[in-house]
Amino acid sequence: MKFLFTFLSFLSLFSFILANPVPQGQGSASNQEPRTCKITADGARHRKCPEVNDTKCPATGSYAKGTMIKFMCYVVGETVKGNPYWDKTSKGEYVSETLVEESCRSKLPEC
Ligand SMILES: *[C@@H]1O[C@H](CO)[C@@H](O)[C@H](O)[C@H]1NC(C)=O
Repeated sequence: MKFLFTFLSFLSLFSFILANPVPQGQGSASNQEPRTCKITADGARHRKCPEVNDTKCPATGSYAKGTMIKFMCYVVGETVKGNPYWDKTSKGEYVSETLVEESCRSKLPEC
């Protein structure tokens, strides 16, 4: 009986491993898929970190309204207009969620 239990535990562990293959690439533990979201403001700046301080988190450029951008995940950063969330692009830059379509963060994991 004990043997059977051990055998079944082993079997379920094995099928768990089969059902959850290690994701390819990145080497990161989190399995992040980019999500494409629309920029909702003209001149939406993308920054090196999630704060509006130009010294600390300089903008590396800006997006035009309507641009579709790939986002990987979101972080809590400086609160802008009551919104503390920033979406991280596939290039590793941050855009305040006040400049991105509202439904975007619900599709993203936390970074
Ligand atoms: C912006 O960041 C710099 C460098 O960290 C800091 O010295 C400065 O006080 C900050 N400015 C504001 C307005 O918070």
